[in-house]
Amino acid sequence: MPTLIGPAVDRADGRLKVTGGAKYAAEFAPAGNVCHAVLVSAKVGKGRVTAVDDAAAAALPGVLAVLSYRNTKPLKHVPPSEPTTLASQMPGVELMLTDRVVFYGQYVAVVVAETLEQAEQAARVLKVTYAAETPQLDFAGRVKEAVPPANRMAKDEPADTERGKPADAFAAAAVKVAGVYSTPNENHNPMEMHATVAAWDGAGGGGGGGGGGKLTVWDATQGVVATKAALATALELKPDDVRVVDPYVGGGFGCKGTTWPHTALAAVAARAVGRPVRLMLTRGQMFTGVGYRARTRQDVRLGAKADGTLQAFAHDSVSQTSDYSEFLEAAALPTRHLYACDTAATTHRLVKVDTHQPNQMRAPGECTGVFAFECAMDELAVALKMDPVELRLKNYAEVDPENGKPFTSKSLRQCYQQAAERFGWAKRTPEPGSMTDGRWLVGYGMATATYPANRLPAEARVRAFADGSVVVQSATQDLGTGTYTIMAQTAADELGLPAEAVKAQIADTNFPKAGISGGSSTAASVGSAVMMAAAGLREKLIVLAVADVDGPLYGLKPGDVAVAAGGKLVANADATRSVPIRDVVARSGKNVVEGEFSAKPGDEKERFSRHAFGAVFVEVRVDPALGIVRVPRVVAAYAAGRILNQKTARSQFLGGLAFAHGMALLEATVTDGRTGRVVNDDLSEYLVPVNADVQQVDVIQVPEADPFVNPIGVKGVGEIGIVGAPAAIANAVYHATGKRVRDLPITADKLL
Ligand code: MOS
Repeated sequence: MPTLIGPAVDRADGRLKVTGGAKYAAEFAPAGNVCHAVLVSAKVGKGRVTAVDDAAAAALPGVLAVLSYRNTKPLKHVPPSEPTTLASQMPGVELMLTDRVVFYGQYVAVVVAETLEQAEQAARVLKVTYAAETPQLDFAGRVKEAVPPANRMAKDEPADTERGKPADAFAAAAVKVAGVYSTPNENHNPMEMHATVAAWDGAGGGGGGGGGGKLTVWDATQGVVATKAALATALELKPDDVRVVDPYVGGGFGCKGTTWPHTALAAVAARAVGRPVRLMLTRGQMFTGVGYRARTRQDVRLGAKADGTLQAFAHDSVSQTSDYSEFLEAAALPTRHLYACDTAATTHRLVKVDTHQPNQMRAPGECTGVFAFECAMDELAVALKMDPVELRLKNYAEVDPENGKPFTSKSLRQCYQQAAERFGWAKRTPEPGSMTDGRWLVGYGMATATYPANRLPAEARVRAFADGSVVVQSATQDLGTGTYTIMAQTAADELGLPAEAVKAQIADTNFPKAGISGGSSTAASVGSAVMMAAAGLREKLIVLAVADVDGPLYGLKPGDVAVAAGGKLVANADATRSVPIRDVVARSGKNVVEGEFSAKPGDEKERFSRHAFGAVFVEVRVDPALGIVRVPRVVAAYAAGRILNQKTARSQFLGGLAFAHGMALLEATVTDGRTGRVVNDDLSEYLVPVNADVQQVDVIQVPEADPFVNPIGVKGVGEIGIVGAPAAIANAVYHATGKRVRDLPITADKLL
């Protein structure tokens, strides 16, 4: 039985990051005199480009090329792949550098110059003329015309579900609550902006429209394999002629989980000038070029018996998508699996607007939907005069209520109990406004968190060299999450080595394939592959050792040998018979012995419901005169299967909870309703939480053995920290003030 809560191993890449040794995409400088590309974004929300006058731009010093519809043929449409495979997509690439504009910020030109400053200046003086049309940007006014999603991009669940007859049961319920909740558009804003360095080799600057030469791209991405596939399609190249590399990512948050057109445009620019090109989005372009969380309007109705037993619920979500490509923010999806209630309905509808395509942003669907549903549960508790924790325990789902399947594991009860106790929930007096501290109104609120235990196919290779070094490889990514560290730990564990003895190599399409680092799936997917690959290597080493006539283990059956601390193979029956792994490799006459494994999800999806759960308790303080909300204290407990590294996992939970503070209190993208221009497209106007906004955060990692979810027993911790906490904050604000804010973020104006 593996340890359920793994050791607090330091981040393998920590030293490199703080000393500047970790190289991010934009920092790569391939041979051949790198030049700079700057994207020119459309200044209308819809219409035609009628002219691109590049006379002034082209005359400036250092300018190498101005690419637009006048001299560049459109790239190929990239059909989105199934999210369960490689997830390659490049929304709207076929529209770039054409004369048709379908959203504000769409790229109409690319300027390439010797230096970044020269390219920026040329982009500024480039004259683009438009015939503007009126974009359709009204979401709120068109909710009634919302349409069902054409495809289910987010999860393989239907858009609508119904169990029982919810309308009748709701009508018959003794206690009812109903509310409309809304969440705004939000932008991901990782510290590292999207950037691409593209270099052609072979055909060099030739090639023109299609084919020719091999392309290497250093791209800020959550999926090198997916990016390679999307680039090959868009540029009409053989997949083997594209290599994508990205060893360090300065935050992914989901925007880097989609491959965006600028990555292909960097390659187009490099081909046009016959030199490597570096292209980095501006912070402003991050708001119209790399996806966003789509706004939602969610109708939630709950009906219960007087004792709190849920009799029926309905959750109808409408979200925004772009007109040219669809993304569904699946907000009603998590509620299907949360509480025991056999009469329920959920629906998803979309309103199409003329903006850039929204996409997944950390805990897509889960954090928006659970905000609405867990606030509604709080409203129900108030209506019932029942403790919110007691209401949730009353309706605790022992099996998945949507499909009757058992959970692979579920320790939510322990989460409620442990977090409530550490928080001091028992001290809460239920009446709103009943707890104060000087001028501050004090509120206690709680909510449930949940996130699916996703898994993608993944391959890994572990190599033991004769010099004693051990390397583990997979074309996965580390978004700052700890992938390097847990891969090394996992391989080391199987070989009796300390974690620091194994070096992880990732994020290069030359390594064995892996999916995007999204959906909190990397540890489960790649971890399982690494574990199996390392176990395979161990078995190979044992077979070599027992066949080595001069070795100490000669003649034993492989089953009579195991690994021991220090990276040794040892006879089970006689500890004096042992040999270091490095000697096994050296004595075999080979330089390297390796294990490789291709791990795919099994039938666990058919047999089980697979989810991580958590419980979040928060204290807020509200200044009733100024409407200021502070969050001095959070206690959250999560049970997410096996925790490989309690230090990097805790950081994941903390990061999620910080994100949740932003969602609850600060973040909202403001769009000009006439053009689609994002008004607050920088970090002084788009507010994200800073350290001073996030105060005491206490995370409890509840041990949970899960023999069913996947070979390594991990559910993933990347996103669940964001789920539930916004509802807990909103519920605490209600408890402090008696004001129910159903529209995020909870800003001062909504409390005064
Ligand atoms: Mo995440 S939003 O699944 O990259």
